[in-house]
Amino acid sequence: MLVIHTIAELRARLQGLTGIVLVPTMGNLHQGHLDLVRIARQHGQFVVVSIFVNPLQFGVNEDYSKYPRTLEQDCKMLEQCGVDMVFAPGERDLYPQPQQVTVDLPPIADELCGAFRPGHFRGAATVVLKLFNIVQPRIAVFGKKDYQQLYLMRQMAAQLNLPVEIIGGETVRASDGLALSSRNQYLNIAERTEAVFLYQTLIGISVAIMDGATDFLKLERQAIEALTARGWQVDYVTIRAQSNLAEPTASERNLVILAAARLGQTRLIDNLEVSREW
Ligand code: PAJ
Repeated sequence: MLVIHTIAELRARLQGLTGIVLVPTMGNLHQGHLDLVRIARQHGQFVVVSIFVNPLQFGVNEDYSKYPRTLEQDCKMLEQCGVDMVFAPGERDLYPQPQQVTVDLPPIADELCGAFRPGHFRGAATVVLKLFNIVQPRIAVFGKKDYQQLYLMRQMAAQLNLPVEIIGGETVRASDGLALSSRNQYLNIAERTEAVFLYQTLIGISVAIMDGATDFLKLERQAIEALTARGWQVDYVTIRAQSNLAEPTASERNLVILAAARLGQTRLIDNLEVSREW
């Protein structure tokens, strides 16, 4: 497995290669990331995993400086998974000058997580577009864990005619159901025990919807109240249409329940797809 740190070396090594699949990450890898690698291997000949903690997508009061950086351990895991190349550029390599050219996203980027993390998705989309242009993959794999991010990457690829197919991987969870996340390690023991309640809340809503509930606002309100009563600070719990993340019409069958909430200092997100049958 090659570990490459500069754009120039990467370009030289990838020249003439076809069937490149890219898995963009910020490192501190867990089984969720490795599952995306597994999917990537199924879809192409040459798997590149990028590792870059992207300052452009962190707000001023967010965890950019304390975000765990574990490159050596990450590379060991990726080597065992049969990854062909790790691309771990330095900040000055990706951003030699202030990044003033950015990706302008559809209005939904300012809703949901975007409402609580202004500019976050612009920063994420901009670095992903740069990585696409540098690595030139045919396919890129993103996790459904970050459902809004996956949706926006698909929109960027479609509306900017990028020659990249976007594939979504299912969310990988711990045995109790908590979605794996690099941020879970910020949780203390009591918070880690409580954390699964976010997923259980999503399951509760999905069961209610499958049982025929149609008053989505009431379901959302009840969920927010239950989480708040247990000490969570809730950013949002909302039921949306899978196709465009808009508020669903009465006839919408394919829904997704999305939630973001903080336990102490740690912000967790999760989501669950639910399809109504009638
Ligand atoms: P990061 O948080 O490292 O996540 C990298 C990829 O792993 C994303 O596509 C994310 O959705 C996926 N992922 C995270 N946890 C997962 C889980 N439990 N199951 C399945 N997939 C999971 O998302 C980013 O980095 C950045 O925004 C990035 C796209 C790299 C741009 O900087």
